[in-house]
Amino acid sequence: MAQAPASPDFAPRLIAWQRTHGRHDLPWQQTRDPYRVWLSEIMLQQTQVDTVIPYYLRFLETFPDVDALACAPIDDVLAHWAGLGYYARARNLHKCAQRIQAEFGGQFPRTSEQLATLPGIGRSTAAAIASFCFGERAAILDGNVKRVLARQFGVEGFPGARAVELAMWKLADELLPAKGIDTYTQALMDLGATVCTRGRPVCLHCPVNESCVARVTGRQGELPAARPRKAIPERSADMLVMIAQGKVLLERRPPTGIWGGLYSLPEATDGESPMALALRRSGVVPHEVSALVTVRHTFTHFALTITPWLARLSTMPEQAAEEGLLWAPLDALDRYGLPAPIKRVLSDLSGV
Ligand code: ADE
Repeated sequence: MAQAPASPDFAPRLIAWQRTHGRHDLPWQQTRDPYRVWLSEIMLQQTQVDTVIPYYLRFLETFPDVDALACAPIDDVLAHWAGLGYYARARNLHKCAQRIQAEFGGQFPRTSEQLATLPGIGRSTAAAIASFCFGERAAILDGNVKRVLARQFGVEGFPGARAVELAMWKLADELLPAKGIDTYTQALMDLGATVCTRGRPVCLHCPVNESCVARVTGRQGELPAARPRKAIPERSADMLVMIAQGKVLLERRPPTGIWGGLYSLPEATDGESPMALALRRSGVVPHEVSALVTVRHTFTHFALTITPWLARLSTMPEQAAEEGLLWAPLDALDRYGLPAPIKRVLSDLSGV
């Protein structure tokens, strides 16, 4: 996996930046009490800071320490979590408090290694607690940090992939400063949340912008790489391009499903021949039908290959009885808001 070497400047720059531009007044920053830090880290795993703050404060009022939490009925704990989502977090929180009571005499273990054996505490959360509360030199690697590292060092590949993640853990370990681990850990979190954001990173305000591979190469939008798309099922459809007197026969789609309610070309049902489709939709049998160039279109969940069948009629058939059918002038198709692949089929017609 190609990536730039870890720069010796990275941690000192982040630490200096955190002191002046980082966040210092979040409610869980005023303490080294592992119970409070742990609670904040669990709440922040999948939830934004602004949402977490009122929940955090209310939770602490009711459950001020690990003992209060361990002794509380799970339903009370869940009630305090209601609205935060990902309720497994609340169940694990409760289990974890009980384990700390039962196995550690009510005291949080002081190493990231031991912390990571507890329910709901993964490697990154364990490192955050250990670095904030006990000054352990341990690397964090949550989604924000992965984004910062992928951009700064040009790490290719989807960070959720095992090999990429392992490379990132190695990089995160190598970058740790000898001193100031708590400030550095907070700096990484703050940079990811406030400057090196997913959508519109504010590179101008970034303390490591000069060494950032993504910024220097203009690839902020490509790094980190997105989750690779799964192969999607292929579908095919025969459609009728029936033309008479400069008009094409369109059919309104059913209100639900793809292109719900839009005008499109008449589509063959399963196994229906183009001739049969022409008869069903126009009431006449064309002299001949011929296949046009296929058009492939990718939807979120499948890909559709359209085989259009051209049928030219010398006279306009009597208006089709069925609702939802209309003859549209070929030179005024803009009026009908056709789906893009159908527009492509019809624009390819110009040379036919
Ligand atoms: N996200 C995860 N942990 C955080 C923390 N301690 N402060 C701010 N944002 C965070």
